Amino acid sequence: MSFETLSPPRAQALALVVLALVLIKTSQVLLRAHRRRQFARQHGCEPVTAQYPHKFPYLGMDRIREVRQARKEHRMIKWVHQKFREAGQYTQSIKIFNKTIIVTSEPANIKAVFATNFNDFDTAGRLDFIGQVIGKGIFTTDGEEWKHSRAMIRPNFVRAQVANIDAIEVYLQDLLKLLPSDGTSVDLQPLFFALTIDTSTEFLFGESVHSLRGDEPGKPSGVAFAHAYDTALQECAIRATQSPLARLMGQSQQDKQNCKTVHDFVQRYIGEALRWRQTWDGKEKALPTGQYTFLYELVKETTDPIVLRGEVLNMLLAGRDTTASLLGSMFFQLAKRPDVWERLRAEAAELHGAKPTFEELKNLKLLQYCMKETLRVNTIVPTIVRNANKDTTLPSGGGKDGQSPIFVSAGQMIFCQMAVMHLREDIWGPDAGVWNPDRWATLRPGAWDYLPFLGGPRVCIGQQYALTEAGYVTARMVQTFSGLTSRDAGPWQEKLTLTCASKETNVSLTLA
Ligand code: HEM
Repeated sequence: MSFETLSPPRAQALALVVLALVLIKTSQVLLRAHRRRQFARQHGCEPVTAQYPHKFPYLGMDRIREVRQARKEHRMIKWVHQKFREAGQYTQSIKIFNKTIIVTSEPANIKAVFATNFNDFDTAGRLDFIGQVIGKGIFTTDGEEWKHSRAMIRPNFVRAQVANIDAIEVYLQDLLKLLPSDGTSVDLQPLFFALTIDTSTEFLFGESVHSLRGDEPGKPSGVAFAHAYDTALQECAIRATQSPLARLMGQSQQDKQNCKTVHDFVQRYIGEALRWRQTWDGKEKALPTGQYTFLYELVKETTDPIVLRGEVLNMLLAGRDTTASLLGSMFFQLAKRPDVWERLRAEAAELHGAKPTFEELKNLKLLQYCMKETLRVNTIVPTIVRNANKDTTLPSGGGKDGQSPIFVSAGQMIFCQMAVMHLREDIWGPDAGVWNPDRWATLRPGAWDYLPFLGGPRVCIGQQYALTEAGYVTARMVQTFSGLTSRDAGPWQEKLTLTCASKETNVSLTLA
């Protein structure tokens, strides 16, 4: 039926309805704009000082092209930093697919997003692009669902306190077997990824996938699991940067298959844990795994297999790549600084060849400084995105001098550039870009200037675990090898996926 075929009174009535709808919609838009102006005025907001200098502002396509190029050339963090420098401001507004986004490396704004105005922001639909692999859990949910996850997990993490050093030693030995000591070059970064998937799966399921050893006959393939998991996560990282249109294409068959491989693998452990749960009488008793196991602690709280799978995979995502990235980047930096390696060896000599305990690790001061400095210079989670779930404000970035509050409308995204904040010369000094662990001997950064593990209610719950694991592996490598030499000609380069690792960490090692 077309408009012309309607009788005149019906056509008139329809036109009136359409007109009324247009008027209602227009007045709603105008009213909302008026309320927002009032809200912004009440909070002393000024327009964002620095606008990204788009050549074609409508879709921000020029910026998207530049981002793609920078990612391809492994210089994304440098590029973002450069754009802030050019703007002369650490808060900027940009266009992405015709949405106005705020990008900030300003500690005051970051504090507002993650602490003071915490309830005004959520994780910006993280579940949409990563949920296919890891499902719902502490990392992918917001509001009440997130509170529930965190309340369920946090106490049992406190009890676990730190990584199990004895367990890490087993996998460290597997790693050492793969390291040439005849001066041949080896890329440590992929080996650290294999190490941390082995330690994480032991911690989470009570049984490691042993990717450093290869598959055992008669057991489900841990190597296939690790491969499917890595590939599926790479797909997620691509999805996160795609246009909404491209995302409509949905998952490829291969991606669906990878997710299924991951889920089926985890399901086996969940089944075992649920069977154990039926025999559990509610009292403390030794677990069948013989040690703290995340899944068995969780099964005391819930028996829903989907919830269990989500939480376990959320934890694997949060803990595995991050710790491997810290190790890969730190060894890249150490290999370029034989003087620091020498001093680490002198420090570890106090252990007289014994494996360090948790307390001893804490006392290896230079080792602790090396980790802190790597987390600053090669920030593992360089960008954290949040979405405003209501009209709100950020304290800085507006007006002539960029010092006034700015208005953030409901639905607006904030890209918090943590890596750039950690490299700001006005915060860290003129040598901000230089990896210098000794700066930590006297340095006391402002509470919101240094956030490798974030801050506020969603602060990383695995910080202690990660520092213990990375510290232990480094201390044992320092005890084992007298020499570590870089085989990378150039400077550190990023490998950005959902986290930021070293593109390559080629080194040669000399046995002590
Ligand atoms: C060097 C290693 C690590 C770094 C740099 C790191 C950093 C971070 C950061 C920046 C966040 C906040 C992310 C966001 O909200 O968008 C986070 C959250 C989280 N991390 Fe870590 N992390 C590390 C290791 C670990 C480990 C080993 C575990 C667990 C075994 C872990 C568990 C978590 C969890 C569960 C969250 C989510 C917390 C929540 O949303 O309530 N992390 N981590």
